[in-house]
Amino acid sequence: MPNQKINILAIESSCDDTAAAVLCNGKILANIVATQEVHQQYGGVVPELASRAHQQNIVPVIHQALAKANIDKKDVSAIAFTRGPGLMGSLLVGTSFAKSLSMGLNIPLIEVNHMQAHILAHFIEEEDFEKPEFPFLAMTISGGHTQIVLVSDYFKMEVIGETIDDAVGEAFDKSAKILGLPYPGGPLIDKYAQEGDPKAFKFPKPKVDGLNFSFSGFKTAVLYFVQRETKNDPEFVEKNLKDICASIQYTIIGILMDKLKKAVKETGINQVAIAGGVSANSGIRKALKDAEKKWGWKCYVPKFEYTTDNAAMIGIAGYHKFLKKDFADFSVTAQSRYKF
Ligand code: KG4
Ligand code: ZN
Repeated sequence: MPNQKINILAIESSCDDTAAAVLCNGKILANIVATQEVHQQYGGVVPELASRAHQQNIVPVIHQALAKANIDKKDVSAIAFTRGPGLMGSLLVGTSFAKSLSMGLNIPLIEVNHMQAHILAHFIEEEDFEKPEFPFLAMTISGGHTQIVLVSDYFKMEVIGETIDDAVGEAFDKSAKILGLPYPGGPLIDKYAQEGDPKAFKFPKPKVDGLNFSFSGFKTAVLYFVQRETKNDPEFVEKNLKDICASIQYTIIGILMDKLKKAVKETGINQVAIAGGVSANSGIRKALKDAEKKWGWKCYVPKFEYTTDNAAMIGIAGYHKFLKKDFADFSVTAQSRYKF
């Protein structure tokens, strides 16, 4: 750890959360998220509305983060920002803002890959929180991604499996929509699932080669199931909501765990971390706890506030790039499909 104080101001604007965080030597001083509620009424994120809301929120969110951290702008060592992947209009707001601020304050600019940052959230300095050791496997499960990543070092990551269509978060959100639940439905399915019978209804698991995933057929299976049952009983969903949610969650977690088991077997690495919005799910958290007991895996589950989109994760990625002096220049552009 360096003996000087390295203060990173981090900005995240890849989707529908405008977020800013301040970290000192990898420790969080402030982590502010403004969640855009405007999308709820549309049942999903509306890109143009997201960009506009980022423009409204970005200045107050950054002010709030600096105030909470009790850090003056002149004491910030570098600006880290999400370069991608994400919605182009949303990314442009954060990218342009970060460039201007870095230029105005005459401090380094650091570009961060959002998916790497979800994984690096495990390295935020926290008391009573063990960090993974390299190499480990990370399963990134969010509204936009589903990947299994072999992590050899902070920025040495290889995607060894990923979805060929929908992301797992979409499977949760689209299933929820079919059940008449508001967006984002993932947390609601989780909530109802906790009181339901996971084996009440059976949904098919896709057959996909290797370590890849597929969720588009699952969503269709849920749709046909609900259409069929409501034909017989229009109140079917209301009467069975908890059992349906539990069965959906059970199947999705089963799909994720099957591939994770395969990845552990193929790589011989049994240190497993999860990251991204869906890692807040109680079912996947429990499945990993069980895997530790049953198969001797060592599992790492992030704190709730670092699961869904946040700037703290951008800040920790930025901090490790700062230590390597890996800075961006002002010609850097946002990348909606930013692979690593
Ligand atoms: O990482 P994230 O905030 O944004 C993306 O980068 O996509 O992930 C959002 C996704 C949404 O699909 C949301 O429904 C899902 O994470 N999610 C959950 C839970 N909490 C958030 N899905 C299932 N169970 C949860 N508890
Ligand atoms: Zn994310």
